[in-house]
Amino acid sequence: MAKKANKVEMTTEAKQAAAEKAMTPSKRISFQVSEAYKMIRTNLLFALSTSDKRTVVFSSAEPSAGKSTLSANLAIVMAQTGAHVVLVDADMRKPTQHRNFKLSRTMGLSKILSGQNKLDECICKEVKTNLDVIPAGTIPPNPSELLGSHRMDELIAELESRYDYVLVDMPPIGIVTDALVVAPKAAGLLLVARQKQTTYDELADTVDSISATSAPLLGVVLTDVQQEQMLGYGRYGKYGRYGKYGRYGKYGRYGGRYYRAYDYAYSADKEKQAEKESEND
Ligand SMILES: Nc1ncnc2c1ncn2[C@@H]1O[C@H](COP(=O)(O)OP(=O)(O)OP(=O)(O)O)[C@@H](O)[C@H]1O
Ligand SMILES: [Mg+2]
Repeated sequence: MAKKANKVEMTTEAKQAAAEKAMTPSKRISFQVSEAYKMIRTNLLFALSTSDKRTVVFSSAEPSAGKSTLSANLAIVMAQTGAHVVLVDADMRKPTQHRNFKLSRTMGLSKILSGQNKLDECICKEVKTNLDVIPAGTIPPNPSELLGSHRMDELIAELESRYDYVLVDMPPIGIVTDALVVAPKAAGLLLVARQKQTTYDELADTVDSISATSAPLLGVVLTDVQQEQMLGYGRYGKYGRYGKYGRYGKYGRYGGRYYRAYDYAYSADKEKQAEKESEND
């Protein structure tokens, strides 16, 4: 029994180590990776320069494309320019940003949108220099409705008045419509695709869905690109390259808990179970 417990602990540690490595900011990451983030930052700032809005929504066609990792790291490198940045974890189905920044998730977006708490009670201030984070909050039964509510409009307006940039991490468009609900309220949507995972069809369908809204598509970031594979992959426009960044491997892309969390149909039991599991994260 003790042996089994040890094994589980090691697996968790290994996962945490991989997640921490995937998070930039420090000297742990290679020069190429940090340059890739800076290049994406530059392109994003150009894209935003023609918009009055300051909010960017991150989404993808399918799960595990690298949205949360990208949005967290981009928030960090944008804050490094001296801009005041807030990262909002709006994936209230499978939240992860609290783990990336080692924060408590409980007070966060769902609490603000449901009127249970005030914005200032849910902002984690200065998690890095110039960077604040709003975690996802307790997992709600109705994320799409909360995101489509007037409180979300008010929240975006308030955050845009306080911050230079508002980055919003959202679930995949191919699974739920949350990102399409929020993107029209923002400057636009940054789509994340993953090499050897995202298919052309998935990406094309997702671009079609975005085109059907009033939200501009700001660009596509291709993640997990091996250096030697970079050439000849320009079909969707190279918006960012990740260099040798594939070594962290992929985690259970379509695994049990994952899909449960993104299930369209709401089930109180499933939600309770998912909530229980993720409260311990
Ligand atoms: N550029 C990358 N190269 C290699 N691995 C990556 C890269 N970006 C993220 N990963 C890894 O892929 C996994 C999924 O990343 P992440 O959680 O950022 O994806 P996501 O799109 O937010 O997923 P979800 O759809 O579950 O929200 C993580 O284990 C992460 O460490
Ligand atoms: Mg995510």
